[in-house]
Amino acid sequence: MTDEKRVSFITGANRGIGFETALQLAKQNITVMIGARTAAEAAATAEKLRSQGLAADFVKFDAESRGDIQACCDFISNKYGKLDILINNAGVLLDEDNASVDHSNNTVASTPELLKKTFEINFFSVVELTQKLLPLILKSKAGRIVNVSSILGSLALHADPQGGLYDSKYFCYDTSKAALNSFTIHLAHALKDTHVKVNSAHPGWVKTQMGGASATMTAVDGAKTSVKLALLNKDGPSGKFYHLDDELPW
Ligand SMILES: NC(=O)c1ccc[n+]([C@@H]2O[C@H](COP(=O)([O-])OP(=O)(O)OC[C@H]3O[C@@H](n4cnc5c(N)ncnc54)[C@H](OP(=O)(O)O)[C@@H]3O)[C@@H](O)[C@H]2O)c1
Repeated sequence: MTDEKRVSFITGANRGIGFETALQLAKQNITVMIGARTAAEAAATAEKLRSQGLAADFVKFDAESRGDIQACCDFISNKYGKLDILINNAGVLLDEDNASVDHSNNTVASTPELLKKTFEINFFSVVELTQKLLPLILKSKAGRIVNVSSILGSLALHADPQGGLYDSKYFCYDTSKAALNSFTIHLAHALKDTHVKVNSAHPGWVKTQMGGASATMTAVDGAKTSVKLALLNKDGPSGKFYHLDDELPW
């Protein structure tokens, strides 16, 4: 067994679940690359980890910038030549920004602009970043890709009148996470004959800027599903949707 240090890249790692995920992976002796929308935020976050004796690097990553996606790949390629763990964590829930819509179901009122912006950040950028990083992930001895989704992306639960999600429908967010889940399934199939595992994570309802103060879980616990899927051994699942130890329905 080689003691070669693993390298991970976590998007949206400057705060919330992403920061906790980076911290927990770094404590496992994994180099964590902090992705944040500004270089200053990314650098400050990496410094916070380094000041605790942890191995942290940083790169500017704005999901809405095609240039950033390419620059991230070039940076990781030139500096590390491989990527062991990719956590597609950055995400937005923009439906609540429009105060005039009915939050129990805003499907009819959602604007094309809100839908496109949500999909750009939560889905299209994830697909492009992952595709571009794949050659580096394939160079890892045990590549792991975690798509940070949400239970709100579950079509099965949304369609079930008895399910707890039936009456809470954030159209843009829910459909973007359902698309992300579909990406997980398709990519896992494409990589089924490789050592790379791809899974979707539902962190839980977590106290962050997105989750709000009423959420039931801390960010420390909210990071645990992503960390668990990032550290799967070779017999672990691929193409699945998890919250902690529970497999969720698509
Ligand atoms: N909190 C929950 O209850 C919950 C539940 C289910 C799923 N999730 C998922 O968990 C993930 C993390 O959420 P969170 O609760 O930690 O949210 P958060 O505290 O709002 O953090 C979101 C992170 O995403 C980054 N981000 C937003 N837009 C971006 C963009 N265009 N490019 C790059 N980064 C961007 C933010 O950066 P800035 O600081 O620059 O804004 C921030 O780092 C998301 O994918 C979310 O959908 C959360």
